[in-house]
Amino acid sequence: MSTPKSTDDLLLTRFREVFGEASGRNALIFRAPGRVNLIGEHTDYNDGFVMPMAIGFYTWIAVAKRQDRMLEAYSEHFDEKIALSLDSLSGPPQKHWSDFIRGVAASLQEAGHRLSGGNLVIHGEIPLGAGLSSSAALEVSTALGLTLIAGVAVPALELVKLCQAAEHKYVGTRCGIMDQFIAAFGATGHALMLDCRLLEYRLLPIPKDVRVVVCNSMVRHQLASGEYNLRRADCEAGVRVLQSFFPEIHALRDVGIADLEKHKHDLPATVYRRCRHVVTENQKVLAAAKALESGDSDQFGHLMYRSHASLRDDYEVSCRELDLLVDLASSRRGVYGVRMMGGGFGGCTVNLIRSECVAAFQADIAQMYAETTGITPATYICEPAQGAETRPVEGSSQA
Ligand code: GLA
Repeated sequence: MSTPKSTDDLLLTRFREVFGEASGRNALIFRAPGRVNLIGEHTDYNDGFVMPMAIGFYTWIAVAKRQDRMLEAYSEHFDEKIALSLDSLSGPPQKHWSDFIRGVAASLQEAGHRLSGGNLVIHGEIPLGAGLSSSAALEVSTALGLTLIAGVAVPALELVKLCQAAEHKYVGTRCGIMDQFIAAFGATGHALMLDCRLLEYRLLPIPKDVRVVVCNSMVRHQLASGEYNLRRADCEAGVRVLQSFFPEIHALRDVGIADLEKHKHDLPATVYRRCRHVVTENQKVLAAAKALESGDSDQFGHLMYRSHASLRDDYEVSCRELDLLVDLASSRRGVYGVRMMGGGFGGCTVNLIRSECVAAFQADIAQMYAETTGITPATYICEPAQGAETRPVEGSSQA
């Protein structure tokens, strides 16, 4: 029986098919993981707290240096190859996967890092559009690859910020920093308690007797990206009003619930509810970190349910399918908590479940969700994984 080929080998084989043997001899491999976020949604761009963990699904890229100033990239998923010149990367979002490559290269160069041309092959394991952060994984793996072949050393935190900037300017989503940060800094066996203002984190061990299970609703509603930027604008509008009463605040991170309530009627009703979500969600993340550290999975789960209710009612980023997945999961044995995850309007729920109940949970949820919606959901058991890395490649003349 032959041994199954590793992803590294398969990717190199594909690279040679696309770019030829000679370029393949110089190829290096990088990968960055997707993520789940245990709690703390829509708090990152408000300077708040989040609790992501990297998962063992990756975006892989093979990259080899070229002698000219061209970037050629082939996406396996889209079965498409694009070409870009490093000397003309500017321009608005094209709503095409190449925006990520163009954006990362452009942001690096705008920050003064001179890049070299390269050939890239992209292989993705993270379901696209499912809220598992395939975009940030592509950005971070691309940034690693492009800097390495150019011989420029960029500290990890700067790289993370440049990837976020790429998404703002070249993809058009004014995302927070959580996804890029965890793609780079994920730690095996742990979630990160990340302070998105200070960009400091502490590691929180995931208890041995629970599993983090993701349920993919398999829907993605059209509004997702536009509504994301609108939510962020609502938060900023709230801060501007509150600053007239509390000049010292910079972000919703600085606002307590008592002060928010005091000025409820100074804020438009919708803006008030958006702010209430963020302020209370930050409190929940802090409480959840304590619960995890003291091994209190019941309390952690309770906070997850409350997070979902707030995202559904105050932030209004859930949808029928996500609410259904939460309702169905909440009645299953061994489920501590469940909530929608990521930007919203589709994608996944994240569930915290007693280990021995996971198999029954997966079977039940699949059947019950399909009965109501006609859609078969995907479920994934997620192990907390390491962040982005350069893979050892045997015999590469570039390493
Ligand atoms: C997306 C963004 C993140 C974060 C989440 C919501 O994943 O990329 O920055 O705002 O939505 O918590």
